[in-house]
Amino acid sequence: MSRFFIGITGASGHAYTEVVVRALVAAGHEVDLALTVAGSKVLRHELGVDAGAGGEHLARELEPWLGEEVARSVRAFAADAIEAPPSSGTALTAACILCPCSMGTLARVAAGFSSNLVERVADVALKEGRRLVIVPRETPLSVVHLENMARLARLGAVILPAMPGFYHRPRTLDDLVAHLAGKILDRLGVEHALGARWSGTGDPPGESGIGPGA
Ligand SMILES: Cc1cc2nc3c(=O)[nH]c(=O)nc-3n(C[C@H](O)[C@H](O)[C@H](O)COP(=O)(O)O)c2cc1C
Repeated sequence: MSRFFIGITGASGHAYTEVVVRALVAAGHEVDLALTVAGSKVLRHELGVDAGAGGEHLARELEPWLGEEVARSVRAFAADAIEAPPSSGTALTAACILCPCSMGTLARVAAGFSSNLVERVADVALKEGRRLVIVPRETPLSVVHLENMARLARLGAVILPAMPGFYHRPRTLDDLVAHLAGKILDRLGVEHALGARWSGTGDPPGESGIGPGA
């Protein structure tokens, strides 16, 4: 069992977060969740989860959101809970995942701001040499965004944009979300059953292939 930290920011794409949390718990892991202030607003907007202005009610919302069984393996922290265990390098956090990651949080992590718990845990991952998986979401991207991503990639972070592929022929939004979430789990080294792996053609029987994707 490992403990993963997921920082939820004010970017769009909270459906990915939910699938990743569920998959980590299904694989026997524990999850620490923290929101930024904007993350709390977008969580309410996209998933209807009301975690309070700064995520201070996230803990009580876990069970209605994720169900009792999953919620049992999840700890929730507010944006300003900089005293929370994962903010210390002594916490054995297996990896920090920023999902989805706004351009604001991306910039502040690239500059080492640590101005809330999410940014601090990402900073700790960098200083401790732990895995940091960043799932940025914005389009189009400015040079500022690209340079911040390049800087973090040079520091060892995995930049895994919320950029869904179509070569696996998704039929539903859930298929699209699961495919991207599966790629996050792959980078964490966690087994999962989120979508089929590329088999050479990806064809349903009788259809022709279009070549491998990533
Ligand atoms: C509904 C909604 C969707 C947003 N989507 C994005 C997005 O995809 N990417 C992004 O960088 N910012 C997005 N924003 C703007 C961020 O929330 C905003 O820049 C915020 O200050 C980021 O703060 P944070 O980095 O502390 O979470 C969105 C805002 C709202 C209200």
